[in-house]
Amino acid sequence: MFQNIKNSIDFFIRNTTKFSRKNFQEKSEEKLLHNYLENLYTYDVLDKFIIKIPYDKARILDIGCKNWFYAKGEYNFFKTFIKNPFLDGVEIDAYRLYCNFYSRFETAKFYTKGLTNTNYIAGNLLEIKENYNFIIWILPFVSIEPHRYWGLPEKFFMPEKLLQHAYKILKHNGQMLIINQGEKETLIQKQMLDKLRIKYEEKGIVKSEFMEYKNNRYAFLIKKD
Ligand SMILES: C[S@@+](CC[C@H](N)C(=O)[O-])C[C@H]1O[C@@H](n2cnc3c(N)ncnc32)[C@H](O)[C@@H]1O
Repeated sequence: MFQNIKNSIDFFIRNTTKFSRKNFQEKSEEKLLHNYLENLYTYDVLDKFIIKIPYDKARILDIGCKNWFYAKGEYNFFKTFIKNPFLDGVEIDAYRLYCNFYSRFETAKFYTKGLTNTNYIAGNLLEIKENYNFIIWILPFVSIEPHRYWGLPEKFFMPEKLLQHAYKILKHNGQMLIINQGEKETLIQKQMLDKLRIKYEEKGIVKSEFMEYKNNRYAFLIKKD
């Protein structure tokens, strides 16, 4: 209970003040190299699971994009088969500050620089009314512990409602890729999809030459008829 009160007050303050230093630029060669690999990983993973149907114009949504450190990988992947991709990223905790006093929002400006028609939305997924051809959802909070640990107020923990909404805004013939962390979260994800009667393909463990994570990640692909 104490943790929730603390999270709620902190969340309220950062969303009211929107305090951040401006003009973030990553200068560390080591961090830039790591980020390059993270983007290659993102590209590679999308390439493994998304079915590439050519479009002249398509809308893509990334849910819970944090500081969007992987936006380039996403953008460049979709650019291979969509002439004009419109990429949105939505993040409920956009004004969370890093210890360098840059917010996620400000940091994302650096990671999305030069990506045409790419838009970082500081807000709740439930407020999104637009429809999308592709939805990417990497590591959704499906259990309360990580949601709390990441500093979010409990009133925002509603994984089923979020999943239902994401499915609703997915266009017909659209694809949604969900990636979960660890077997426990993957099982919860699967049970939610079953409960909501959302059809999916279980893609199993996500593997890439570019990056290896401590916990295995698992993919679900949802194709809306
Ligand atoms: C585990 S993090 C994953 C971040 C990122 N996708 C990644 O792969 O590193 C989950 C993110 O979802 C965000 N989130 C949680 N609920 C949300 C909501 N209702 N709308 C938008 N973002 C949300 C959290 O603030 C957090 O940044």
